Amino acid sequence: MIILGIETSCDETAISLVKASANKVEVLSNIVSSQIELHAAWGGVVPNLAAREHLKNIIPVFKRSLKEACITKKDIDLISVTKGPGLIPALLVGTNFAKTLSYLWEKPLLGIHHIEGHIYANFIGDKVLEKSTKLNPKSTFPLLALVVSVGHTQLIYMKDNLKYEIIGETQDDAVGEAFDKVARILGLGYPGGPAISAKAEIAADRHRKNADRRKNVLHESASSPYKSVLQLPRPMIKSKNLNFSFSGLKTAALYATKDYRKANNLSEEDSLPQNFIEELAYEFQEAATDVLVKKTIDAAKKKTPKTIIMAGGVSANKKLDEKMKRNIEESLPSDTVYKKPNTSYSLDNASMIASAAYYRWRSMSKKEQEFSLDNWKIFQTNASLKLE
Ligand code: KG4
Ligand code: ZN
Repeated sequence: MIILGIETSCDETAISLVKASANKVEVLSNIVSSQIELHAAWGGVVPNLAAREHLKNIIPVFKRSLKEACITKKDIDLISVTKGPGLIPALLVGTNFAKTLSYLWEKPLLGIHHIEGHIYANFIGDKVLEKSTKLNPKSTFPLLALVVSVGHTQLIYMKDNLKYEIIGETQDDAVGEAFDKVARILGLGYPGGPAISAKAEIAADRHRKNADRRKNVLHESASSPYKSVLQLPRPMIKSKNLNFSFSGLKTAALYATKDYRKANNLSEEDSLPQNFIEELAYEFQEAATDVLVKKTIDAAKKKTPKTIIMAGGVSANKKLDEKMKRNIEESLPSDTVYKKPNTSYSLDNASMIASAAYYRWRSMSKKEQEFSLDNWKIFQTNASLKLE
């Protein structure tokens, strides 16, 4: 079947067409129009500006997506759209568009949870996931998902497709939000994740070179991990539960910056030296990824999943990926499968929404599928939608 996916929950206007079958979900087009430059000037996403941009872009993006996929109205079997969570003015552009299309074209409509989309982004192009049975012992389930985005930091245990048990979550800020705020403190602009990562990489290169130099001079091993001179906390890393907290880490980064300014007679307006920015970015990324990985491993030891996946924008972080891979190999059974979404599907996109919609569709009875022709009248757009 051919599924149209629509995503406008934040600052990306995204429309995709996928071809889904019992075999796999295959992407025919994946068009994303990003508003990053517009919001960068404000240091974060401005909801009403985002809505205005979505409104301007949604039809051109839709037309491009159809053209690239060589698909017309008659080929489409199902329309899917993010119905929450997200920024309400932004979400409403996508849901209104989807509802109108569903009504005019008389096609079924499914509203999808944004995080469900991020989770199912992992399985685009793969064999369709089936429940674990005696006949199918090699199933992907049970599965543990680490969800890391600007609005969410959660550990989710899945016994089967679409069955979610939240076993840990942040008590305050989400990790993506912390990346963005620390980037702002350092004057790195929006979005913060990639900027922090790039600066941290420069610091890491310097640490490697210094260690090599030391090794040559002293003939000593340079393999021990680098310990930053700027020490930030690893909040809740030793707590017995699987929850997170990132607000204290962000505040610690703010105070480290204030202290540095004071010690070096720099005013709030003076720019910070690159060296300091790179070192703080490095230490922040180390602290955040240490906690995310430790909690994921703790959760996996408790719940013994067959598969561990990452989902959400922060899953694009290379350091997090490297650490996760290494720690899974070192601490968990050797047959534990680890996955993260392909780079084209880790940030907000609409293929992930269409992919999740396929799993929803195949879980429905014939009657429920028929009723979804009327969903344009029924479903509610919800800024704080819960995953269930
Ligand atoms: O999943 P997403 O688009 O947001 C929500 O759905 O809520 O993720 C966006 C977040 C932003 O906070 C951005 O800074 C972060 O993902 N991000 C990264 C990287 N790329 C994007 N964080 C760390 N490292 C990255 N490479
Ligand atoms: Zn997202």
